[in-house]
Amino acid sequence: MQEARALSGIKPYLFADIDRKRDALASRGIDVISLGIGDPDMPTPERIVAAMVDAVRDTANHQYPDYAGSAAFRRAAADYMDRRFGVEVDPSTEVLTLIGSKEGIAHLHTAFVDPEDVVLVPSIGYPVYTTGAVLQNGQTYPMPMTEENGFLADFSVVPTDVARRAKIMFLGYPNNPTGATASPEYFDAAIAFCREHDILLAHDNAYSDLTFDGYRAPSILERPGAKDVCIEFFSLSKPFNMTGWRIGFACGSARAVAALGKVKNNSDSGQFTAIQEAGIVALTECLDEVDQMCEVYARRRDLLIDALHAIGLECESPKATIYVWAKVPEGETSESFTATLLEKAHVIVTPGSGYGPDGEGYIRLSLTTPDDRLVEAVQRMKEAMA
Ligand code: MLT
Repeated sequence: MQEARALSGIKPYLFADIDRKRDALASRGIDVISLGIGDPDMPTPERIVAAMVDAVRDTANHQYPDYAGSAAFRRAAADYMDRRFGVEVDPSTEVLTLIGSKEGIAHLHTAFVDPEDVVLVPSIGYPVYTTGAVLQNGQTYPMPMTEENGFLADFSVVPTDVARRAKIMFLGYPNNPTGATASPEYFDAAIAFCREHDILLAHDNAYSDLTFDGYRAPSILERPGAKDVCIEFFSLSKPFNMTGWRIGFACGSARAVAALGKVKNNSDSGQFTAIQEAGIVALTECLDEVDQMCEVYARRRDLLIDALHAIGLECESPKATIYVWAKVPEGETSESFTATLLEKAHVIVTPGSGYGPDGEGYIRLSLTTPDDRLVEAVQRMKEAMA
């Protein structure tokens, strides 16, 4: 049996690999604290669960779902975009239901990338931006991201011959993993760059509802002309504690939505309608619950940042996302420090290098762990570093 050549260029999926290490320790009876994957520990709000139970009992939902998503879910997504961002999208041509935004991001490459094409990826970014391109035998060009440039991917340094061959540029703000946020001017410059070079701008907005200290994250589609060149990805996973449900949506450019829909129609049969019905309740009725979750995450963020500072780790306080991005101590690499914490403290964090070249020298800590376990994790880290 011979696997596709492209597969050999891909490491095991970052979070599957972390799960494997966690499970190996847990199977030896070791108490592991995971600050790894961003998997909310709080339950899905009860109203969403109740809607799902009703929808499962409705036999009309037992047959194939609509390929592009139910008209009702797409309408709810369009209404959410309007209410939340003042952005108008046509639910029938500019919105597509996804089986989690990860699959949409991966499939976008199939829709737009031919062998040898270039995908512009943030040099610290969600791994699927890169691996999706590699699976298409495409090439990636990492746009530099540094603390000095506020972790804003710098597309201005992309050489013209590379930009000409680029088909997609991925951005994501509020940013996973750095927690950085982007200004309207940055989005405008990115849109102008993509328009000039005829590139699809794919904006990953999975964390727009998880914001703190009065910050409101925008949609890139708020910017003038954005709908001509942008597709935006939303996930219900993080704001509504629905990671296991696999539900999200893409919206924006009708051409990009149609192309992604064509790939999906030929590879999956759409999301279970009952889950979409639960998703409608999330998008229309549960924003108060999201506010409560933001309060919990803000409290945990402050707790974690104070504790990390107390043990000498440098990190900024993010205005959004469920992640803290911290520098590793002198003399360590992302991998070595992650391994030390795993072996000596039984604490899992994500190595920054797993997100791309400029992630080296950092770790990501997720806030999806109760307060007392966060404090215990940092106490254990302190002992491991002594
Ligand atoms: C994360 O922790 O960054 C993501 O939730 C991981 C994933 O989507 O696989």
